[in-house]
Amino acid sequence: MPRELEELASQAFEELDKISDPKELETWQIRYLGKKSPLMQLLHSLATLPLEERRITGGRANEIKKALETGLGKRREALKEAQIAVSLQRESLDISLPGQPIPLGRLHPITQILKEICDIFVGMGFQVVEGPEVEWDYYNFEALNIPKDHPARDMMATLWIDFELETGDREMLLRTHTSPMQIRVMEKLRPPIRVIVPGRVYRHEATDATHESMFHQVEGLAVDRNITLADLKGTLFEFARCLFGSERQARFRCDYFPFVEPGVEMAIDCIVCKGAGCRLCGGSGWIEILGAGMVHPDVLRRVNIDPEVYTGFAFGMGVERIPMLRYGIDDIRLFYSNDLRFLKQF
Ligand code: PHE
Repeated sequence: MPRELEELASQAFEELDKISDPKELETWQIRYLGKKSPLMQLLHSLATLPLEERRITGGRANEIKKALETGLGKRREALKEAQIAVSLQRESLDISLPGQPIPLGRLHPITQILKEICDIFVGMGFQVVEGPEVEWDYYNFEALNIPKDHPARDMMATLWIDFELETGDREMLLRTHTSPMQIRVMEKLRPPIRVIVPGRVYRHEATDATHESMFHQVEGLAVDRNITLADLKGTLFEFARCLFGSERQARFRCDYFPFVEPGVEMAIDCIVCKGAGCRLCGGSGWIEILGAGMVHPDVLRRVNIDPEVYTGFAFGMGVERIPMLRYGIDDIRLFYSNDLRFLKQF
């Protein structure tokens, strides 16, 4: 019996050394240490042996059992470690590999310039508000001293909304300028008022290099006691200095808008020729950037602000023109044709 036992043990150890997989290890355990294994059978039948043999065989069998169990434990540990090493190897990250580039979006050049313009006025104490693009005739024209038969309506090629009152009048339109917000703001707020209104405006025009049927304006309005044309000029000079730099000249000339009195236009000396005259400025040396003026007393009266107590100035500028001048863009349609090669440059 002891010899068979020794052979069995050495066979078991030999097999154990070769095991490289947990399943095999289980089979091995059942074969050598399971209830029906020869070793266990032997340990069970010890009682039937004579005392002396029981002592020797039993002692040795128990030793072998312990040794097999220890061997099994060690092997199990080793397998576990090997497995961890394999998965670490498989899941390891090479942090020196270059990452996948994430394409970054950017703000549209018009959004960028709007932000820049608003920031300048916010710095001077103005508040930014926005208004509807679909507007009533009343706000776009009537309340701004432009009644139905007024010739100024012709200048603003209007896109009308297909909607008629019982009288047959068309009353809704796509706003042709941001000035209707002057009225909406003054209906809601009492002086002192300082607002700017960035937004889209629409005109029913054939498009070409300098005309789009949709473009942007920024409206400004300040109403308070003692506001004068000097405040208007000071504010807009400062704005031009911030946006275009202190070496630019600004010029005011008389102009006419029904809702201001007096009305002016502001121009800056041409960025390209510095005032000498070139194709961009049409040889004049000046580029017009906005219309402005003192809010007409009739407009103030219409929103119940007493023109004897309060005065105000208003201005409205075209936005697209500014980046066109700054970057030498010669076609306004580029802004809205969604060509990424163009848009990515800003
Ligand atoms: N709304 C005018 C335009 O679109 C500009 C303007 C605004 C003029 C405010 C005077 C005062 O041409």
